[in-house]
This record gives sequence, C-alpha cells and structure tokens, in this order.
Amino acid sequence: MTHRKATIFTRRQFLRTLGVTAGALAAGPALSACGATALTAAPAATAVPPTAALTSVPAPTAVPTVAAPSLKIGVLLPYTDIYAALGENITAGMEMYFEEAGGVAGGRTIKVIKEDEGTAPDKALEKARKLVEQDEVDFVTGIVSSGVLAGVRDYFDSNKKLLICSNAGANALSRGAKTPYIWRTSFTNWQPNWPVGTWAAENVGKKAYISVPDYGAGANTITAFQNSFEAAGGTIIGVQKTPFPNMGDPAPFITELAAANPELVYCFYSGGAAVTFMKAWGELGLAGQIPLMSSGFMVEEDVLPAEGDAALGVRSGLHWALSLDNADNAKFTEAYKARTGKDANVFAVQGYDTGRAIVEMINAVEGDTSDVDALIDALGGISFPSPRGTFALDANSQAPKQHIYLREVQNVGGALHNVVIEDLGEIVDPGDDSKG
Ligand code: PHB
Repeated sequence: MTHRKATIFTRRQFLRTLGVTAGALAAGPALSACGATALTAAPAATAVPPTAALTSVPAPTAVPTVAAPSLKIGVLLPYTDIYAALGENITAGMEMYFEEAGGVAGGRTIKVIKEDEGTAPDKALEKARKLVEQDEVDFVTGIVSSGVLAGVRDYFDSNKKLLICSNAGANALSRGAKTPYIWRTSFTNWQPNWPVGTWAAENVGKKAYISVPDYGAGANTITAFQNSFEAAGGTIIGVQKTPFPNMGDPAPFITELAAANPELVYCFYSGGAAVTFMKAWGELGLAGQIPLMSSGFMVEEDVLPAEGDAALGVRSGLHWALSLDNADNAKFTEAYKARTGKDANVFAVQGYDTGRAIVEMINAVEGDTSDVDALIDALGGISFPSPRGTFALDANSQAPKQHIYLREVQNVGGALHNVVIEDLGEIVDPGDDSKG
C-alpha cells in the first residue's frame, strides 16, 4: 500500500492555488451543495472543492488552478464492544452536520477516516498512531472512553497533534493532565454528577449507595457525586465498582446494594452496560422501590427503548434532553429522526456540535491546518447556538461550559423519554480537584 505524502500549504500558498480571496473562501461552505459520499469517498488532491464561491469567482488566468488537498479528519470512535452504539450515534450526528455544511470546511473537501476505538487503551493508541502517521490526518476527533483518552493523551501531547474529544469525560484532562492539544466538545465527568449530588440530598434522601464500572469514568463519578452530596448533608453508605467493560451478571451487585437499605442508589453506566444493569434492576423487582439516580447516560434516549419500564422514574443529570425547549433542538431532533429513523440522543448532539466546531475552526483558519497553535486559538473562541443551548468552550477546562438539566424518565404518549424537571444552572469544571 502506498501513501501520498500530504502537501503542507501555507495559508498564502493555499489561497493562491485556489485563485480566490479569503472572503470568498469563508463564504464557501455555506454556499456549496456536496452530498454524503464526498465525506467518505472524498476525491484526491486533483479535484476542485465544490464550492459555489469557487465557480462564481473566476481564477485569474495567469494562476494555474491546483485544488486544495482534502481535509482529512481521523475519527476514532467505538464501533465494537459496549460503547459501539455511542460511536455510531456520534458519527451520525457529526456526518449530519458535515452534510449541512456542504461537505466542505475552509474551502477543503472533508474526508473522514474512521477507526474503531473499542475499549482497550493500548489497541486504541495503535489506531491513533495509524491515523496520524499512516493516513496523515490533519487532526483527530472522537474517543468515548475515559480509559482510552488517558491512554492516548501523551501521544497527542508529545506530537503536538490536535485531538477534539467528542465524549470521554476524564476529569484529569481538564486538570492535572491538561495539554493544549486536547480539547473537548462533550463534558467532563464531574459536570453531570456534581450538581445532582446536591439535588439528591435536598430532594431524595440522605443515605446513598453508589454503583459504577471499575475504570476512570466510574471513579470520577464517585468523587463528584460524593463531594456535593456530603456537602449537602448526605452520607455515602457504600460504593461498588463492577468489572469493566463487561460486568458479567449484575444480580449479585444489585442484591448487595439493596441489602444495604439505601435511601437512594446513584449510578453511572452507559451503552450496553446501562441496558444490562437496568434490565436486572427491573427483573429483581427494584424498579420504583429504591429511588435510582444517575448521570444521564444511563437512561439516555439511545438505551431507553431496550431498558423498558425498569427505567421509569429514574432521575438523572445531563447537558441535554430530547425535550429541551429551544429552536435549534427542535430543528436538530427532527432532522436526526428523518435521517436515522430514531430519536436523537446526547451522543448524536455531541457529534453534531463537534462537526460544527470543526467546520468553524477550519473556516477561521481559511483551510490552513499547518499551524496547530492557530487551530487551537480558533477552536477556543468558538461559540454557536446548539441543540443543548449555547455551545461555548471554557478556556480553563478546555471543555464546554454548559447547563445541566435534571431529567426524569416518564411515559410520554406511549414511549419512555426524559422530561426536564429542573435546570441546575451553568456548570463549569473547576479545573482542579477541589470539588471532587
Ligand atoms: C467515559 O468513559 O468518560 C464515558 C463513557 C460513556 C459515557 C460517558 C462517559 O456515556
């Protein structure tokens, strides 16, 4: 297999090859009409980006027209194992945005190169290397699991390669292990859990039992919830860490926590693990018996249909809800359903916002990805209306500052959905471990 060496264009050379002005380039994506195939089977360097700006602004005859190279985006997301559906949803949301943008960013045709993250950090690191060194992508996006994010952190840091993380919430990446080269369009694990600790102690009970998977995101969930729950007068009467990625039979764990007689149970499970836990919770007759609370992933719209009535009444905190009442959410949820046949979910939102952040970042540098610091500068300043409300990055934590909503699973017109019962306010990661 041969690999074409990527041509590094300075911004000036790049504009010259296109024979257009910066202004025309900036207008390009909004004016173009490029379909889905361009995203996955983008033409090689000889093709002309299909922007209306290019056709409407004639190239000066003296300048030979050489097309800009396509923008290669490495996408590292799980397409196997317990988080496979999360990867599919993030991908669908991101590709939906790229299509809305005409398949072009900064005058360059977007080409997506996907690799499977799985759940094993060492294997995922190999995929990251392959994307960067073999495929020569301009930057990488993706990563669902905190364990994987921790595992690839040093690689992106030492190679000064940009990674835009579209899910994994490992707190350390916004704190002690922060690097300028990794930004998040998703959340930190602290964000959805910390405000719910206070709410739970004030509204549900003072004795809580915590159950999480035994890896980084589970550990982050414990410290965040415990910090605010205890500050509000609550006591953690037990903590249980189940095997990750596959917890096996959840029944012994659920039996153990029920025996402790808690006033509420607090959990973090997601994807396949959330379905496994919730089904067992229902089968053991605990649904509606012990108040169950969680970070919103556990009962998100992607898993609710499989969880069924066992999830009724579960209250959770998250930065989005299907029923969130804003115009961008209405437009997004309708378009996503038309495209996929399924209700949207938080992972699709994160993919969609990541797609927009990428296109806006690349537009801001007018397609020139050669200077990583310029890319980071552009990314940090991005803010736009999003299905989750306003999307805006906090420069300190390099993650979104966003509202967390307290939701409750209810039967809405014959189907289970999360209904927002309270806005817990704008939550910004503190950037250190002072609050869990
Ligand atoms: C994580 O590993 O940080 C993680 C995974 C799945 C989620 C949320 C966070 O739904």
